[in-house]
Amino acid sequence: MLGIVLLGVACAVEKSADPEMDRFIDNLMSRMTLEEKIGQLNLPSAGDITTGQSQNSDVAEKIRRGEVGGMFNIKGVDKIREVQKIAVSESRLGIPLLFGMDVIHGYETTFPIPLALTATWDMDAIERAARIAAIEASASGICWTFSPMVDISRDPRWGRVAEGVGEDPFLGSAVARAFVHGYQGRDGKYAEDEIMSCVKHYALYGASEAGRDYNTTDMSRQRMYNEYFAPYKAAVEAGVGSVMASFNEVDGIPATANRWLMTEVLRNQWGFGGLVVTDYTGIAEMIEHGIGDMQEVSARALQAGIDMDMVSEGFLGTLKKSLDEKRISLQDIDRACRRILEAKYKLGLFDDPYRYCDSRRAATQVYTPEHCAEARRIAAKSFVLLKNEKNTLPLRRRGTIAVVGPLANSRANMPGTWSVAVDLTKPHTVLEGLREVGGSDVDIRYARGCNIARDEELERNSTIFDRTIERDGRSDREMLEEALKISSDADVIIAVLGEPSEMSGECSSRSDIGIPDVQRELLEALVATGKPVVLVLFAGRPMTLEWEDEHVTSILNVWFGGTQAAEAIGDVLFGDVNPSGKLPSTFPRNVGQIPLFYNHKNTGRPLKGDKFEKFRSAYLDVPNTPVYAFGHGLSYTTFRYGDVRLSASEMGVDGSITATVRLTNDGPCAGEEVVQLYIRDIQGSSTRPVQELKGFQRVSLKPGESRDVNFTIDASLLKFYNYDLDYVCEPGEFDIMIGGASDRVKQTRFRLN
Ligand code: BGC
Repeated sequence: MLGIVLLGVACAVEKSADPEMDRFIDNLMSRMTLEEKIGQLNLPSAGDITTGQSQNSDVAEKIRRGEVGGMFNIKGVDKIREVQKIAVSESRLGIPLLFGMDVIHGYETTFPIPLALTATWDMDAIERAARIAAIEASASGICWTFSPMVDISRDPRWGRVAEGVGEDPFLGSAVARAFVHGYQGRDGKYAEDEIMSCVKHYALYGASEAGRDYNTTDMSRQRMYNEYFAPYKAAVEAGVGSVMASFNEVDGIPATANRWLMTEVLRNQWGFGGLVVTDYTGIAEMIEHGIGDMQEVSARALQAGIDMDMVSEGFLGTLKKSLDEKRISLQDIDRACRRILEAKYKLGLFDDPYRYCDSRRAATQVYTPEHCAEARRIAAKSFVLLKNEKNTLPLRRRGTIAVVGPLANSRANMPGTWSVAVDLTKPHTVLEGLREVGGSDVDIRYARGCNIARDEELERNSTIFDRTIERDGRSDREMLEEALKISSDADVIIAVLGEPSEMSGECSSRSDIGIPDVQRELLEALVATGKPVVLVLFAGRPMTLEWEDEHVTSILNVWFGGTQAAEAIGDVLFGDVNPSGKLPSTFPRNVGQIPLFYNHKNTGRPLKGDKFEKFRSAYLDVPNTPVYAFGHGLSYTTFRYGDVRLSASEMGVDGSITATVRLTNDGPCAGEEVVQLYIRDIQGSSTRPVQELKGFQRVSLKPGESRDVNFTIDASLLKFYNYDLDYVCEPGEFDIMIGGASDRVKQTRFRLN
């Protein structure tokens, strides 16, 4: 029985801005039975459907009966064409299906994981990556990607930080727009090589308690609006075609059934007009959340504003009954059905259901040399040089290099988590990349050094989904000795260590985010040789690197760089490309500091400086500062910042001022710097963060070259959601900070009148 009576949402049949589409859909819907309408709301996973057998599968029967609106997790034009044909030729009304996939950071040509793409701070590059992903996916039958994932997260224990945009709403919003534009284009129409984007996971999924995946979230509305909502909203403003509900609860109600979130905020406040899909089994999971049985949670999801049910089949199984019992209205079903049909219409599927099934394109536009070259360039841009003592990097192309570590010679680990369409035999290993880029004058030797982790079970869990690294049966001692032997007469040691690809991503939360035990012991032994040690760090999250920062000569964080990562690592290590990535998340000293993020509030008892003081907000056993701050990232050259100059010291709410710094490349080689603008609102009606990113520019300078970098500051950069959730800017003083990292800025102040 339903615990509460659900009233039909007073939602008349919505009309769009396209009368022709409205007429077409009115006409189609007038011919649809109730069952066919409910069928459109059903999105099953393709499961084990195989070419040639799809005709007889369970799902094929459902398609024939008009009980399926779309499918996902199906790869290959032939298979997709075959399934589409069942819908078009064998169902009563011949309504084509949507075909979705998690094209998260590329299709077969794979780009860096989204956290790493964010580390480029290069929105054109991200848009190009998404564009290439769209070209390849659309050439392969896919018209819908479940990307971008823009969940702000300040908890690196959560494995899905790998898929997200880091900790900052301003940067996250820019990335959200770039992804949406890359997938969908900018003109509101889908060309045949553009696909519908789905921003996810709405909302607050990245704030799960204790960093444990799928866990509860709970936060103030002010924090939601000011810190967590921005990237989703930016995607909506960029025209994203669909939104995915998150698994977590918001204000005690799972997002999937949260009407305030799905209708009041998303539709009414932000004006979203596309379709909303649940996450995988999101409806059924609400039974476990404890808010009702399948009938009730399905009804609540529909009434909250969900249109499409991914996998649960709660809509398919219960909506008719709920309608008969008057717990939902026909208008609710019509609304959801209409949004799904509109998406199909806009994608051009009614004109040509096989629009995305062009075998010619599939054969010529996927994993092309041009796409791979772009992936290599973008991967190199995403790497962050965390430390570089004595200019150990770049490497010289002579002498002897010892390459050591369990991630140095694994192909399957290169692309990173959520790369479902990739061919794992294609990416090269780090070792192969170094040999290729280093050339024949350098002697490169390899030893594995250790396993991923001492604990076999942890290692197994972190190398699933075909990302296996075979465990070496030798003892830790034997492997270590081999590593020390090949290092003994090397000029430099490259330690390729960190997380294998499935140690981050979905359901890969960690309570210890350091380099796993045996790998760390190996690193200590390599450092003890006294030779320069370069740590090439694979990481799907910010990691705790305090010891490494103190002892290792150089650290290049390469995240997971995609299919061309190996070559890109070679490019950067040998200096063909000067690294320019900047951290999109804070790297804490230890797990006890989490959540640690740069744009925090001041408190009434802030710690001044780094030293412990009694009765100040601090820890007895660790400073408040991170190892690496948000925005940090070095280069092979150095950049000098001049003082911040303002065009005026005061401005009105309708005015603007320009903040300028002179940036000089005073190092030895050409390089790119990401110049960052931060603002602090000194006094507000509510407390304000100590620093907020409000602008950034990538600047390329030759050695000795200087340039003025300008930022225009107007009221739009000063606004925030106040206690009443009004979006306001309040007169008063503001600090302007400009620099190359959040903790290295030049500062001045102005007044808003
Ligand atoms: C994930 C989503 C993904 C979906 C479909 C879920 O487990 O949370 O991000 O899009 O699966 O594969």
